[in-house]
Amino acid sequence: MSTTGLILIVDDNPTNLSVLGELLEAQGFSIMAALSGEAGLAIAERKRPDLVLMDVQMPGGWNGYETCQHLRQDPRLARVPVLFLSAQSGTESKVTGFAAGGMDYVSKPFQAEELLARIRTHLELYRLREHLEDEVALKTEALRQVLDQLEQSYTECLELLSLAGEYRDLETGAHTRRIGAYSAAIARILGWSEAECRHIEQAAPLHDIGKISIPDRILLKEGPLDAAEWTIMQTHAAAGARLLRSHSSSPVFEMAAEIAECHHERFDGTGYPRGLRGEEIPLAARITTLVDVYDALRSRRPYKDGMAHEAALRILREGDHRFHPRHLDPALLALLDEHHGLLARIFEEQPEGPE
Ligand SMILES: [Fe+2]
Repeated sequence: MSTTGLILIVDDNPTNLSVLGELLEAQGFSIMAALSGEAGLAIAERKRPDLVLMDVQMPGGWNGYETCQHLRQDPRLARVPVLFLSAQSGTESKVTGFAAGGMDYVSKPFQAEELLARIRTHLELYRLREHLEDEVALKTEALRQVLDQLEQSYTECLELLSLAGEYRDLETGAHTRRIGAYSAAIARILGWSEAECRHIEQAAPLHDIGKISIPDRILLKEGPLDAAEWTIMQTHAAAGARLLRSHSSSPVFEMAAEIAECHHERFDGTGYPRGLRGEEIPLAARITTLVDVYDALRSRRPYKDGMAHEAALRILREGDHRFHPRHLDPALLALLDEHHGLLARIFEEQPEGPE
């Protein structure tokens, strides 16, 4: 067992100090000494010892227990083992010593071999614990870095998928990013966890990803679709869900699949593909549908100007020739009234740009 280490001896009796110091130096330990608790703390703060031998009775200043409590308040010294040395060998004083943060209690007069054995044991334990904590901290940091990289790859992968959708669709990058930001803002108000908010922020922009399966002659057709073309167009919801579930069952992909599958369902049951109604439609999809309508109303298109926030909200509440408020979740519409300006702020922060 190792006999190296820096030991601080605190004792108000100079003779005790020198006897103990000589004994320990002879065993190979390095020694620092203090004649009072106050001086002991000051020395320990300048240079952290590996172990402290602490006299208990030191009249005229802090006693050993008080000194130990002060040592424990300094984060750097909080775990340094303290061994009390005391002429009092009663159970009560030992209990007080342990309560003050001491690791061991040796009665005076001590037997040198016993004291040395205890010192070596506590030094060994202290070093093992420090080593373990260093190892745990290193491994935790390494793990955190791997998780960060994974999270980043994941985010990039989702963004790439969203970008692939933009190549085929007429939507702009700003539109898909806003859909994510609006959805997360609403989810946050609804009390979703931070992880769930991040999921919907990443998942909602993928709601139309199934459109990559729709032929150009239909997807890019100018003018109205005929019945057969419309039937094909509607398959983008199920196609998107199939694609998103094909390679991952992680929560974010599952949420993206639910949104893709149900973003054309309507609250009154008149939507597609399954004609779900009310709360049969997953909440994430109801949120995405709402913000998609809002953003479409506000966005500029080659054939129309973008609408102001108030006008867009009015149409959400009252409907127009293409759209009826019964299509949307009334609780979410009420939430927009309550949090007036929530969506407008996001629209203004991420404007459409020149696309
Ligand atoms: Fe769609």
